[in-house]
Parts: sequence; C-alpha cells; structure tokens
Amino acid sequence: MSRRCFTNAQHLYVQQIMFKEHPLLTIYLFSIFKLTDIMVVDNKGIITYIRVLKEDLVIFRITPTDGQVPEFKAGQFVTIGLNNPNEGKIVRRAYSIASPPEQKKYFELLIRWVRKPVPGRLTTELFNRREGDEIAWVKPTGIFTINEKMHNDSYDNRRMVLIGGGTGLAPFISYSLHLKHTGSKREIVVLHGASYVDELSYRELLAQLEEESIDKGRDKWNFRYRASISRPQEWFNRSWNGQKGRVESFLRPKAGIERSPLEELVGEKITPENTSFYVCGWQGTVDGALDYLVPKGFVTERNKRKDGSYEVKFESYG
Ligand SMILES: Cc1cc2nc3c(=O)[nH]c(=O)nc-3n(C[C@H](O)[C@H](O)[C@H](O)COP(=O)(O)OP(=O)(O)OC[C@H]3O[C@@H](n4cnc5c(N)ncnc54)[C@H](O)[C@@H]3O)c2cc1C
Ligand SMILES: NC(=O)c1ccc[n+]([C@@H]2O[C@H](COP(=O)([O-])OP(=O)(O)OC[C@H]3O[C@@H](n4cnc5c(N)ncnc54)[C@H](OP(=O)(O)O)[C@@H]3O)[C@@H](O)[C@H]2O)c1
Repeated sequence: MSRRCFTNAQHLYVQQIMFKEHPLLTIYLFSIFKLTDIMVVDNKGIITYIRVLKEDLVIFRITPTDGQVPEFKAGQFVTIGLNNPNEGKIVRRAYSIASPPEQKKYFELLIRWVRKPVPGRLTTELFNRREGDEIAWVKPTGIFTINEKMHNDSYDNRRMVLIGGGTGLAPFISYSLHLKHTGSKREIVVLHGASYVDELSYRELLAQLEEESIDKGRDKWNFRYRASISRPQEWFNRSWNGQKGRVESFLRPKAGIERSPLEELVGEKITPENTSFYVCGWQGTVDGALDYLVPKGFVTERNKRKDGSYEVKFESYG
C-alpha cells in the first residue's frame, strides 16, 4: 500500500512542526494529515482480465495485490489510478463496480475509452494496459446504493426499475447479482440503452437472470431485462427487433397506446406507491427519465418530500 498524499519531505515537515509547536496546533495538523491520508490511499492491484466488447468498450477485472476486495455496497464506485507519463503524475478516476460485494477476488468494471474531443487522460492509459499490469485503486465509496428501507423504516418492497444508459449499466449488474445472491423477492426490471447492439454489455448474463426467473417462478426470483437501441436505422443494428430509441423511451406511451412499454411489460400502471427508480448514465438520460416521472408525482432523493420519502435515485456525470 502506498500513501501518495504527502511526499517523505512533507511527512517529515509535519512531524517536525508537531513536536515543536503548541499542542493545539499539533492536534490540528495531525487531523489534517489523517484526513488527507484517509482520502488518498492507493492500494495496488493487478489487471487480471480484459474482455474487449469493442475497441472502445471493455470489461476489466482488478485483483487486489494484498488480500481481498474490501467490503462495499452494490452501486458504489472504486477510484482507479494510473501514472500519466505526459503529466508525470498519477491520474485517478471513479468507476462503478459491476461485480457484486460477494465477489471477493476482484472488482469488475465496464469502461468506455473516452476519445472525444481529446483522448481521456485515464482511459487512454488504461486501454494501453494488458493483463498482468499493475494499477492503483482507492477503496470503494458512494451513495448510489440499494434502498432496503423506506423513510419510515419499513422495508421497501416496491418494484425496482434500474435504468442504465451505456456504461451506466455497471452499478445495476452489481445490484442484480447482489439481490440474486441474497435471495431477494423484490421485482427487478433492468432497462439498458445503447447506441449499437454490440454495446449491450452483459446481455447474456441479464437474459440468463430473466430465464432463471421464468424457470424458478417469479415468487422466488422476479427479474426482467429489456434493452433499447437508439440508432436503429444504422446498418450495424439492422437485426434489432426490440425497443427503439433512447432508454427513457420505455417510460413513454407510444401514440395511441395508453400504457408505456414499461407498463406493458410489468402489466400495471407505474405509480410512486408500487415502483422505485434508479437511473445511471448521461445527465440527459437522467433528465429524460425525470421529464416523464416528475409529472406523475415521482420525487427524487435530492428533492425529498417533507416526510423524507422519495422514489427516484440517480447518478450521472457530464
Ligand atoms: C461515480 C462515477 C462513476 C463512474 N463510472 C463509470 C463507469 O462505470 N464506466 C465508465 O466508462 N465511466 C465511468 N465514470 C466516468 C469516469 O470517472 C471518467 O470520467 C471517464 O472514464 C473519463 O476519464 P478520462 O480521464 O479518460 O477523461 P478526462 O481526461 O477526464 O476527459 C473527460 C472529457 O473531457 C474532455 N477533455 C479533456 N481535456 C480537454 C481539453 N483540454 N479540451 C477539451 N476537452 C477536454 C475529454 O475529451 C473527455 O471527453 C464514472 C464517473 C463517476 C463520477
Ligand atoms: N455511476 C456513474 O455515475 C456512472 C457509471 C457508468 C457510466 N457513467 C457515465 O455515463 C455516461 C454513459 O457513457 P457511455 O459511453 O457508456 O454512453 P454511450 O454509449 O455514449 O450512450 C449510451 C446511450 O445513451 C444515449 N445518450 C448519449 N448522450 C446522451 C444524452 N446527452 N442524453 C441522453 N442520452 C444520451 C445514447 O444515445 P445516442 O445513440 O442517441 O447517442 C445511447 O443510447 C458516461 O458519461 C459515463 O462516464 C456514470
């Protein structure tokens, strides 16, 4: 484990001041030191698996060098760091963990190589790495986690609709595998949106989770998965016969039909009493979902009712 927040010289400087100065100042400096220390502790890991879905979309596994994956909650992110030779320093970025907390051997991440308008600093480095290469990681954190309880401390048994745009699917893979592992009886609907069919990451896994639901019975495992393709007219997508449009289109009724595709799928009207939503991806995806949900009386975590209740959580960047 390496601590990168203070160089050795800085470390020594703090220690010298702590011995010489007033005790209160010592405590103050010590607190700052500890706080900074906790914030940026790089652990070492090895990239143990790379699955190239397409040239700019990859599943990575990072195996901690010392010990196992620490405790985390489904939906949290890990910060990974690589040295960027152009800058001569380590660059760190957050990535949602796709593997469930029960997977103790590695973190699995679904990462897009950002190339426009200029190559991303971390992803360009990462996409040049190979299996066996070393990588730094900072312990998982984040609040985009599953609400097991409601504002009044009762269990939240509402249907969970998980809307992921592109790599925004990653936290929901962790949710789904965790809920499966813990034997959850909640109804789970995963809706994934991608521009191209070959960007439907985890398609086989999600289809298999739905198949298990059909095989075992929905009273035991209640899981549904649907995808939407936003560029259906393009040649690569010519075989696509499912939902068309961005993923938010699942929420909007088609002309002349009363129910939305989501309501058609679950067989009832969606209300704040029967459904909670989790949305992850571009801010436009979040806004698109809220455009539909807010007029229907749904409230977000960031805009809770006075009693603390809400039914939409989201995480986005950009
Ligand atoms: C909580 C959280 C979870 C996330 N999870 C995931 C995930 O699971 N998968 C995933 O792929 N991503 C995820 N991200 C995004 C990720 O953290 C990075 O932001 C992303 O990978 C880009 O990092 P980068 O260093 O390659 O790009 P950066 O170098 O940070 O560049 C970001 C953007 O700015 C542009 N840019 C940079 N410099 C300039 C410049 N000088 N002029 C003009 N434009 C410029 C780049 O072209 C790029 O479009 C997550 C983000 C958050 C906050
Ligand atoms: N936890 C998190 O916060 C987290 C986790 C993972 C990913 N992310 C972020 O989520 C975003 C998704 O990236 P990606 O490369 O995976 O996505 P992407 O493949 O480019 O796009 C995925 C889908 O989103 C649509 N889309 C693109 N821009 C949009 C916009 N402005 N508004 C609404 N929909 C839009 C696309 O439609 P078109 O075909 O029409 O473009 C496509 O259907 C990135 O910013 C990523 O870093 C965040």
